[in-house]
Amino acid sequence: MVNAGGIAFSGRARQSGNIMQTFNDTSSVLALLGTRKSASAKAMTEPGPTAGQLAEILAAAVRVPDHGKLAPWRFILWEGAARAAFGDVMKARWQQLHPDHGEQTLGFVHGLFLRAPTVLGVVSAAKENPKIPLWEQQLSAAAVCMNVLYAATALGLGCQWNTDWVVYDAEIAAAMGLATHEKLAGLIYLGTPSGPLEDRPRPDPATLLTRWQAS
Ligand SMILES: Cc1cc2nc3c(=O)[nH]c(=O)nc-3n(C[C@H](O)[C@H](O)[C@H](O)COP(=O)(O)O)c2cc1C
Repeated sequence: MVNAGGIAFSGRARQSGNIMQTFNDTSSVLALLGTRKSASAKAMTEPGPTAGQLAEILAAAVRVPDHGKLAPWRFILWEGAARAAFGDVMKARWQQLHPDHGEQTLGFVHGLFLRAPTVLGVVSAAKENPKIPLWEQQLSAAAVCMNVLYAATALGLGCQWNTDWVVYDAEIAAAMGLATHEKLAGLIYLGTPSGPLEDRPRPDPATLLTRWQAS
């Protein structure tokens, strides 16, 4: 897959130092799992997902393990002019919190959602339940975020799961329309990478594995 700018970012080997890397190889499910690489929201451009692609992404998103079938999550979409309009909200809140910050920071805060054509909020709507712990409901929301990333990547889009300060501010949460029991699990930026992807060191799974034995 090659983006509109002709930059290989998916299913292609690329040289990084002496190591050949392949990112987002969609030739098989396992290949995608083993090569998934986020794009950076800072370097994302048009196009974003089409309406059809967004529907596919959401269909994959809700197909997650969900103990008790509670569907303890929902979505908020920012596209087009809504991104700058929400930028006004974030800027005003930032000004309130940090009255000393100058125009440059304010411009950055205003432009947070303008970095990508589409911003998808995944809301954890976990509620006290007699049978299903909150933790399990929140884990299910994280799984939703992961499915969004895999589905978007499989469609050849760039995506990144971010939080940033906006996820932790009560005023911003209210402006997003979140109920008091809801939390944003993530803001997923969706678009097209404007440059080549760079990997980061990955942990060696063997070092993370212990084999339990009876003592
Ligand atoms: C819950 C959560 C929140 C994150 N928030 C941010 C963030 O605000 N900014 C950021 O640059 N990366 C954030 N990341 C990391 C990126 O999603 C991503 O993992 C990173 O860009 C590295 O790319 P990779 O997914 O290919 O390893 C977050 C990850 C998680 C799981």
